[in-house]
Amino acid sequence: MFLLVMSSFFLFHMGNHSFIPRTVLDLVLVNNDSKLQLQPQSCQIFNSSQRKVACDPTDALLRVYMYDLPPEFHFGLLGWKGSVNQTWPNVNDPKHVPPYPGGLNLQHSVEYWLTLDLLSSNIVKDFRPCTVIRVHNASQAEVIFVPFFSSLSYNRHSKIHGKEKVSVNKMLQQRLVQFLLGREEWKRSGGRDHVIVAHHPNSMRSARRKLGSAMLVLADFGRYPPELANIKKDIIAPYRHLVSTVPRAESASYEQRSTLLYFQGTIYRKDGGAIRQELYYLLKDEKDVHFTFGSIRRNGIKQASEGMALSKFCLSIAGDTPSSNRLFDVIVRHCVPVIISDKIELPFEDVLDYSEFGLFVHASDAVRKGYLMNLLHSITPEKWRKMWERLKDITQHFEYQYPSQTGDAVNMIWKEVAHKIFSLQFNLHRKSRYQRP
Ligand SMILES: *[C@@H]1O[C@H](CO)[C@@H](O)[C@H](O)[C@H]1NC(C)=O
Ligand SMILES: *[C@@H]1O[C@H](CO)[C@@H](O)[C@H](O)[C@H]1NC(C)=O
Ligand SMILES: *[C@@H]1O[C@H](CO)[C@@H](O)[C@H](O)[C@H]1NC(C)=O
Ligand SMILES: *[C@@H]1O[C@H](CO)[C@@H](O)[C@H](O)[C@H]1NC(C)=O
Repeated sequence: MFLLVMSSFFLFHMGNHSFIPRTVLDLVLVNNDSKLQLQPQSCQIFNSSQRKVACDPTDALLRVYMYDLPPEFHFGLLGWKGSVNQTWPNVNDPKHVPPYPGGLNLQHSVEYWLTLDLLSSNIVKDFRPCTVIRVHNASQAEVIFVPFFSSLSYNRHSKIHGKEKVSVNKMLQQRLVQFLLGREEWKRSGGRDHVIVAHHPNSMRSARRKLGSAMLVLADFGRYPPELANIKKDIIAPYRHLVSTVPRAESASYEQRSTLLYFQGTIYRKDGGAIRQELYYLLKDEKDVHFTFGSIRRNGIKQASEGMALSKFCLSIAGDTPSSNRLFDVIVRHCVPVIISDKIELPFEDVLDYSEFGLFVHASDAVRKGYLMNLLHSITPEKWRKMWERLKDITQHFEYQYPSQTGDAVNMIWKEVAHKIFSLQFNLHRKSRYQRP
């Protein structure tokens, strides 16, 4: 036993120079973690000549087939023009990838990051988690990805111009429906193994009824009837935060955060947002509370981001939809979120326990006089510090980036897709036990 332990100890310490493939080490180290992850961390296998090899489709958690839709459905919406017959931009060099427009568009940019990740999944790189890989034969894929930039299409092309009868956004959706319903891949599964990103609550408005059987990647279910979208088949993805992430080492401590509770946003909102107004009157005169109107324009973002980074708690209140990008802004500023939104669905909740780094308050409690302030005062500095430490750990799960890294938002979404698709297959296989020819 002693010899065994010693020999594995030496193997570990030879790590960087030894003949053990990096992947094996990664796998072991990760499995040692309390949160067990079963898939390999990287698909790079270092063979004996130490050259990096691309991810092998058989090693990937998920094989994805992506339709080669014409550019007008995706990068064309970003103003990208390839050469004749070129469907996809060359993504070899991250510096030359067509950029996504900034500002408010960015919060719903999920579609862009997922597409880029797939495009680059066959390229040999220094490092890329081998969670998904793009395959070029649909029969070898577990999942079919529909690369339509639906949120950008809604944000940029909803208006009717000149002599157009329908907007470009509507026209693209109609063409997409026609295309998908005619495909063998769609008919094979009734669309259930298709992934469609519709993160902006108003995106895919015209097409959603016809394509609702697909797995949708959404911000929330606020504007969907439950039969079209629900937590059983669909995926909630985080908004791309608008403020910048506080580097771990620069995150202000309990003592440095002089404001107890922070909220800056639009105060008058319709629907679920009515509570903002009630809270405003309850909290505006409380000591150490910052609760004001504020707009995203001009200096708004900068001001809010500084405010959040110097507050212990930050309110995340339902807007006119149950979700809002504020929650993710708050998280990346390491301010403990106080979530008041009874119907909110949260990203990655199978992996993340939000109560470890946030507080949930029912709307009916929040509007009771004194309730919120009592709650916040009851959180001890030790308890707060624990939540803050956890916040710093989980911030990475809300980062969209290219190239994608293990544990970032892109990688987490693919893992959710995998969970959903495998449970779908499980049910399908069980049902069809006796129906095979
Ligand atoms: C495995 O986990 C234990 C407890 O968390 C830790 O003390 C130890 O250093 C870890 N071993 C490796 C090889 O990471
Ligand atoms: C190592 O990988 C390189 C690049 O893929 C390949 O050319 C070479 O033949 C491989 N060597 C061995 C021993 O497998
Ligand atoms: C583009 O595609 C068409 C039809 O497949 C083909 O006839 C044409 O030669 C292609 N053009 C170029 C520049 O590859
Ligand atoms: C796609 O994969 C299936 C199943 O592996 C195979 O039968 C078929 O020949 C493949 N098609 C092409 C064009 O390679």
